[in-house]
Amino acid sequence: MPSLMNFLHVLAAITWLGGIVFVLLALRPAATALLPPAHRLPLMALAFKRFFRLVWVAIGVLLVSGLWMLLAVGMKNAPAGWHAMLGIGLLMFALFGHIYFGPFRRLGQAVSAADWPEAGRRAGQIATLSAVNLGLGVLAIAGVYFLA
Ligand code: HEM
Repeated sequence: MPSLMNFLHVLAAITWLGGIVFVLLALRPAATALLPPAHRLPLMALAFKRFFRLVWVAIGVLLVSGLWMLLAVGMKNAPAGWHAMLGIGLLMFALFGHIYFGPFRRLGQAVSAADWPEAGRRAGQIATLSAVNLGLGVLAIAGVYFLA
């Protein structure tokens, strides 16, 4: 069971962090280079909608599998890196909730209203906050390797 939980945990982390890397470093710059706002922003809104559904699943899997591994060892015996991961992970979940119910919802409204300047601003906020979450995710993983 512990290795199944570890496996699911890593799969969920790859899905979330890999998805952010793809959107920020490949999809968004390519869409910006090729498409006018009236095409680019509906594309980004739909891409985020599909990706964020996966992120909700990844968060559920990360939380259940992470707590499973942590509680199997006991909070008292867990290395500092595991405690750091719990804290940083909860922060990432909260930040994603903010992205989803704030800028992402507003992006959808702006796209429906064909308000491209507002939609562009909201897509920019989603990109910035997702980059912060990517940095936090890398820190959380580094903690498991480098904190005793
Ligand atoms: C609050 C939720 C979280 C808890 C309780 C948690 C807990 C843990 C624990 C206990 C381990 C150590 C497993 C082991 O070494 O046997 C671990 C490893 C790992 N965690 Fe998390 N985690 C959480 C959130 C996250 C998040 C948000 C990410 C990244 C998106 C993440 C990515 C990873 C990765 C990649 C490993 C594998 C390190 C390795 O085994 O080499 N975790 N986590």
